[in-house]
Amino acid sequence: MYFPAYRARRMRRNATMRNMVRETHLHVEDMIYPMFSAFGENIKNEIPSMPGIYQQSIDNIVIEAKEVHALGIPAVILFGIPETKDAVGSDAYCAQGIIQNTVRAIKAAVPDMTVITDVCMCEYTDHGHCGVIKDGDVDNDETLKLLAAEALSHAQAGADIIAPSDMMDGRIEAIRDILDDNGFENIPIMSYAVKYASAYYGPFREAADSTPQFGDRRSYQMDPANRREAMREAQLDVQECADFLMVKPALAYLDIIRDLRDNFDLPLVCYNVSGEYSMIKAAAANDWIDEDRLILETLLSMKRAGADLIITYHAKEAARLLST
Ligand code: PBG
Ligand code: ZN
Repeated sequence: MYFPAYRARRMRRNATMRNMVRETHLHVEDMIYPMFSAFGENIKNEIPSMPGIYQQSIDNIVIEAKEVHALGIPAVILFGIPETKDAVGSDAYCAQGIIQNTVRAIKAAVPDMTVITDVCMCEYTDHGHCGVIKDGDVDNDETLKLLAAEALSHAQAGADIIAPSDMMDGRIEAIRDILDDNGFENIPIMSYAVKYASAYYGPFREAADSTPQFGDRRSYQMDPANRREAMREAQLDVQECADFLMVKPALAYLDIIRDLRDNFDLPLVCYNVSGEYSMIKAAAANDWIDEDRLILETLLSMKRAGADLIITYHAKEAARLLST
């Protein structure tokens, strides 16, 4: 099959032909939309580095959740900004905490919405780290107890899927155990299995008010240089009974998404993180790129790499673009 007998362009001649031979498709069902729930009432503050994304009080979260549902997006993932923070992140596992109240409000107003909760400590601790501090570093095993309590309180509030993002060792097992012991054996765990210590999280930390007050997260999040280690992290979470695996960030880690796709059969999620969103928004604001096409091309690359689901701040825009 060589030129001139074989001509690849034959299959690209018109839109119908191109549609027929397209290998990868984006669907609105692939999208998960992140939302930031802030304490208070009638609050809707746009995050400066993330145009179109807001910190919102529950009344406004519910309004947006209805809109998200009407667009056909099946799920949201929630992050909380509590009224007060302390050294042990008490609001994270409080029955009346910000996330617990948000979950109840969304499930009451939009029962068909799949509500995923991010389980971590960094939004709730005054030091901004993802667990409790001992001797200047996050103490793994003490943190596991708090994460388990947090996950259980999310399930009790009505969360449909629990998504731990803390990167402590053993947390999937700890969360699975406490959920099962309390009758929540049907609640799946979506593990942020492969999460790198990334500068792409910068805008999120502004959005969630979760910047570490000292040091950084490199003693628990992964080194961006490591590929084999991603397999080990994923393998551990599979053994601990994770139901979904996630790679985060997405765009600079498409090779890792492909590695996980080829080596594991669990549903694979990627997180198109805040910095990836901000870069597109900044370029679009300068009229340097075609924003609509860039959004779809970027999300498509993640599916092509092997992701089944994409957590993305572009979810609403993508839903609109895909329906036209
Ligand atoms: C909390 C958490 C982070 C993100 C999701 N969950 C931030 C971090 O680890 O610092 C980042 C999401 C984004 O950048 O959009 N552990
Ligand atoms: Zn965290």
